[in-house]
Amino acid sequence: MKIIVVEDYREMSKKAADIVASQVILKNDSVLGLATGSTPEGMYSRLVEMHREGTLDFSSIQSFNLDEYLGLDPEHSQSYHHYMHHHLFNHINTDPNNVHIPWGQASDMAAYCRNYDQQIAAAGGIDLQVLGIGGNGHIGFNEPDEFLSAGTHVVDLTEETVEANSRFFASRDEVPKKAVTMGMGSIMKAKKILLLASGKGKAQAIKDTVSGNVSTRVPASFLQLHGDVTLILDEEAAALL
Ligand code: GLP
Repeated sequence: MKIIVVEDYREMSKKAADIVASQVILKNDSVLGLATGSTPEGMYSRLVEMHREGTLDFSSIQSFNLDEYLGLDPEHSQSYHHYMHHHLFNHINTDPNNVHIPWGQASDMAAYCRNYDQQIAAAGGIDLQVLGIGGNGHIGFNEPDEFLSAGTHVVDLTEETVEANSRFFASRDEVPKKAVTMGMGSIMKAKKILLLASGKGKAQAIKDTVSGNVSTRVPASFLQLHGDVTLILDEEAAALL
């Protein structure tokens, strides 16, 4: 694992945007795996700025998002569909046909999940996967458990994740208790992985990810088995390394 420690959130966002931009410039039809959450917001706003400055063309880029809440209206302000359009897609020149975000309202979720994986494979796989990390070590919505799933699947969110994400909703009751997420196999098949973490709330999860046992209890620890992972951490997130 390559670990880059920077001073603060702003520097983390800048560095992450530079890495994504290099990928887009290197291969203008790259397939990007994208994440949501508060962590990558600064990276997206820097990418939008770079696009406005004329340095980044997303017209041939394909993207696959990691996850979405189950049953939440895509128009809901906390849906990941809304997040991605608000923070990125409304401001850049991606072709809407090339944007893929898991659909949490499919009538047959199992068939939908299989199809999502087939679409990733048909696109040639993910060139660069961006990840955040949950305080409990989850990536996407692959929660700590006795086992992990390889493909896209429906998950029950842990109490801890529901609690953590309740800050975005009017009340805890409104937080969906299920989600659809790319599985560990889909993430691990990405050619390159970029994981971002900021703040002291992530320090223990980062320590476990980097130097703990590879364990389904810390899904991000599986990244130790991948050949091309870069972590960009601010000083607080790196404090226990
Ligand atoms: C959410 C998302 C993850 C994200 C994580 C951390 O539940 N499903 O993809 O990485 O939690 O979120 P944040 O960046 O807001 O701390």
